[in-house]
Amino acid sequence: MCIKYHPERKVFELATLHTSYQIQISELGHLIHLYYGAAVNDLMDYLFEPFDAGFSPNPYAQKLSRGGSLDLYPMECSGINCGDFRVSSLDTVTGDGVWGADLRYLRHEIKPGKYGIKGMPSSRGNDENTDSRDVQTLRITLADAVSGLEVELLYAVFEDKDVITRAARITNTSNFPIHLHKAYSCCLDLPEGDWDLIHFHGRHTMERQTQRNPVMTGIHRVSSKRGASSHQQNPFVILCDRNTTEDAGDCYGMMLVYSGNHCTDVEKDQSGCVRCVMGISSEQFLWELMPGQSFDTPEVLMTYSKDGIGRLSRQYHRFIRENICKSKYMHQRRPVLINNWEATYFDFDADKILKIASQAAELGVEMIVLDDGWFGSRFDDNSGLGDWYVNETKLPGGLTPLIDRINEMGMKFGIWVEPEMVNEDSDLFRAHPDWAFTIPGREPSMSRNQLVLDLSRKDVVDWLYKTLSELLTRYNIEYVKWDMNRHLTDVYSRKLPAERQGEVFHRYVLGLYDLLERLTNTFPDVLFEGCSGGGGRFDAAMLHYSPQIWCSDDTDAIERLYIQEGTSYGYPASAVGAHVSAVPNHQTSRATPFGTRGVAAMYGGFGYELDLSRLSAAEKEEVRGQIRRYHEYYDLIHNGDYYRLTTDSRNRDYTAWQFVSPDFKGTLVSAVMTSPRVCLGPVRIRLKGLDPKASYEIVRMETFGCKTEALHSEKKVFSGEALLEGGIVLPIMHGDYPGVQIYLNVPVS
Ligand code: GLA
Repeated sequence: MCIKYHPERKVFELATLHTSYQIQISELGHLIHLYYGAAVNDLMDYLFEPFDAGFSPNPYAQKLSRGGSLDLYPMECSGINCGDFRVSSLDTVTGDGVWGADLRYLRHEIKPGKYGIKGMPSSRGNDENTDSRDVQTLRITLADAVSGLEVELLYAVFEDKDVITRAARITNTSNFPIHLHKAYSCCLDLPEGDWDLIHFHGRHTMERQTQRNPVMTGIHRVSSKRGASSHQQNPFVILCDRNTTEDAGDCYGMMLVYSGNHCTDVEKDQSGCVRCVMGISSEQFLWELMPGQSFDTPEVLMTYSKDGIGRLSRQYHRFIRENICKSKYMHQRRPVLINNWEATYFDFDADKILKIASQAAELGVEMIVLDDGWFGSRFDDNSGLGDWYVNETKLPGGLTPLIDRINEMGMKFGIWVEPEMVNEDSDLFRAHPDWAFTIPGREPSMSRNQLVLDLSRKDVVDWLYKTLSELLTRYNIEYVKWDMNRHLTDVYSRKLPAERQGEVFHRYVLGLYDLLERLTNTFPDVLFEGCSGGGGRFDAAMLHYSPQIWCSDDTDAIERLYIQEGTSYGYPASAVGAHVSAVPNHQTSRATPFGTRGVAAMYGGFGYELDLSRLSAAEKEEVRGQIRRYHEYYDLIHNGDYYRLTTDSRNRDYTAWQFVSPDFKGTLVSAVMTSPRVCLGPVRIRLKGLDPKASYEIVRMETFGCKTEALHSEKKVFSGEALLEGGIVLPIMHGDYPGVQIYLNVPVS
């Protein structure tokens, strides 16, 4: 049993293989967070002694003993107007006009299997049909006796994964409406200490840059109010001890399974303790809960490692692959693809596409993806969005003859769509101007000259489902790249009354999930790739539907190293779409060697984003070699354990990473030199994750884009121990941005 209740001490004990989480019902019925950290066999209820601190009010029943202030205790659910002045996870106004609630323990339930969340993606157990023995649920209900507000705190414990998930369901059992001003998923209180916050910020073409800062007194906020999880701030944070490194030390991860507005507040309080609350952003959020109704929050995935941040990342990688992504392409090979976007932009016709496809097919590419511009009156980005029928000027005769020819070449066909959007200059907008978000009587903000469809409306979602289903039924489309190229403004739904406009942002996300749920269930064989101007909606909820997401619109190999590194803290390599593109690179104008571009892109869903027919004969040969190697390394990249061999790589002269097979018998080490090392010896890298007792042989060491000085040592076979403790020596590589891949395995004896 990974969840136990000790009635004599009123303690809930949640245990995974390497972690413990404990909660206590206090004397007065408040839910106190006792402990989260490395596995312990003891109960931790001795840790909190009541004390009195000036200006921290005590509950009425303890007015004389002057103890038990909610301001001083770690809480499982933190409210307002109750004596806890730190950041709250729940702000409500009940039917009697009262802000806040007095939430006390009412009941609990421990069950096998995983709780569900209505209308939103969340994690699942691996053996759903056998009572999900790998996961258990704890449901603790708190209630405010006066107002009728009930809050169920949901915990699922994934024992072997070292993951505990949290969510909340808020129910109105009164006869009056209750207003939710804030309904977060989770509150985690950490004891006094020197904590750092790591979060992942960025912008379009520069997603998930790692930032690590000491947690100072005051509040640090990581959030998005853009209607998407965003390029700017990812809904994922790590809190770690100041001394924690990649390989040692305490760290906690909190990741929100949500794609819309989000917020994480990290507060260091008056006593030096740190609170982290996470959930749907409360900005422009006001939810009216009518009598009998419930509100479900999205889920937070929590994990803890005492062995540093690398291990925490691998815990997330495994969990996302096995318990979040539902696509069959988690187990089935994904094709190597070519995408025509950077090869043609909007300027293509059937001949151009067929030429790219036939050249690609000859070199071993398995699928072509027709990007933006194949539909409506789409000749640039000012018109046509929303008109999901073929642009016959570019593709006379429609998609069928094109797809037939592509299939005859032995290639699959994929397509780009941006269903959530509309151009004013489109038949859809002319027919349904009220379907787009605009505020009556005001001019809306424009972004890429497009507007956002109101997905909080069922009629809009139903129309999109019908339109996209027809497209996927009519044509042999085996892959869909689902884009979202602007953020939400002028959010106002004509279908909702004035008092419910604060619900629109969240209802938009629910509409999107409804649409994706229906489409992915109806078309389980279609491989979906998420995208939002690159990686602007790279979150665990989107990964439920699409096993990979286009990582960035910056296709420069060197920039990608940093974006991929930041992404790797929470998300597996299998979730990343990565392509080899042309030089000079279209975003940075940098020229990197063809081979190095391949090394950087061999990280998840591999493909090309250029006109292959413009390559030299030697480069075409390189394409063949890259595809051959990618197939060979596929399992390592997609299912292996991932290790960052360098961190903070933007400030170093090389970036290195490693995949290790689950049986420790094979490993792929990749490195790219990002600035010349003049008068410095060869790079020596200590490998990770190997079996110290095994012997590893270099099967292949290939350098790219450089002149290489042969290594003095001809040693080819190493003990795992030597590679872990001493490392491997890279050849000296002369040239601009050279790369190297080293594949080692344990020879079969
Ligand atoms: C976004 C995507 C690109 C491409 C364009 C097309 O920016 O990230 O890959 O599909 O849209 O408009």
